[in-house]
Amino acid sequence: MLDTLEELKTKALGELKNLNDRSGIEAWRVGYLGRKGALTKILRSLPELAIEERREAGSAANKLKALLEESLTNKQESLKKADIERIMGESRIDVSLPGYPVRLGRLHPTTQILRETSAIFASMGFEVVEGPEVETDYYNFEALNIPRGHPARDMWDTLWVDYTDEKGERPMLMRTHTSPMQIRFMERRRPPIRVIMPGKVYRYEAIDATHESMFYQIEGLAVDKGITMAHLKGTLYEYARRLFGQDRRVRFRCDYFPFVEPGVEMAIDCFICKGEGCRVCKNEGWIEILGAGMVHPDVLRRVDCDPEIYTGFAFGMGLERIPMLKYGIDDIRLFYSNDLRFLEQF
Ligand code: DAH
Repeated sequence: MLDTLEELKTKALGELKNLNDRSGIEAWRVGYLGRKGALTKILRSLPELAIEERREAGSAANKLKALLEESLTNKQESLKKADIERIMGESRIDVSLPGYPVRLGRLHPTTQILRETSAIFASMGFEVVEGPEVETDYYNFEALNIPRGHPARDMWDTLWVDYTDEKGERPMLMRTHTSPMQIRFMERRRPPIRVIMPGKVYRYEAIDATHESMFYQIEGLAVDKGITMAHLKGTLYEYARRLFGQDRRVRFRCDYFPFVEPGVEMAIDCFICKGEGCRVCKNEGWIEILGAGMVHPDVLRRVDCDPEIYTGFAFGMGLERIPMLKYGIDDIRLFYSNDLRFLEQF
């Protein structure tokens, strides 16, 4: 019996030494110490032995049981330790290392100028409203005094939506300017009106350094009793000074837009050369930045606003032109080509 126990001990400890996974160890435990395990069987058979042999074998078997249990516990402990070490090794954290710099996003230059512009007009009591980029012929042209066949339609190279209505006409287009929002806004709201309406506009352009097929405009509109050209000039003068510097001067000259009467174009004196003449102002000393005018009486009538009672002014400007001037950017295509080398400069 003692020999059997000695053999069992050698075999069991030898096997355990080579085990290193939980299921293997559990199978080992069941095999030797379980209810039907090899050692358990021996312990159960002890009463069958003769008294002399029983005492000796009993003591040896119990010693072996204690040894196997202790070895098992040790094995489990060392396995746990190895697991922890492995996990620590894989994801070791060195708290003394300096962190990785976080790449911060930034606002697109168009968004920046849009926000700056909105804030300036908001401080003068204007609200900010957006509208649809797919328009109808009516809002984009007709309601703005540009009927079919009017030569002013040639000022805009229109992208038409490929949709024909039941009359065989194609009334849908990508808006060529933000001016249709004047009509949409006045259809819903009575004066007093003070609003700016920024957004994307689309043109069928041959794309080059100064022409994109998509760009931003900001439309402005103020309608109330007693609005005059002086309000137009004062408001836009204030905007120009806040954006381009308090010492800016402005110049208004006659221009033609079908939906205003009279119509003007506004220029600022060149903030680079102060009017001397340079590359930015193309030696003019002046830089045109927007079109404006007094809202045409026919436009007011169209939205049920009596031009004998109400008058108003409107203006519209290209947004990208402002950062282009401010930062000396010479190619409008840079704005929407997603090149980080360009965008990260702002
Ligand atoms: N919509 C015109 C354009 O795209 C710009 C414009 C001129 C808007 C005069 C106005 C305005 O509101 O009064 O060229």
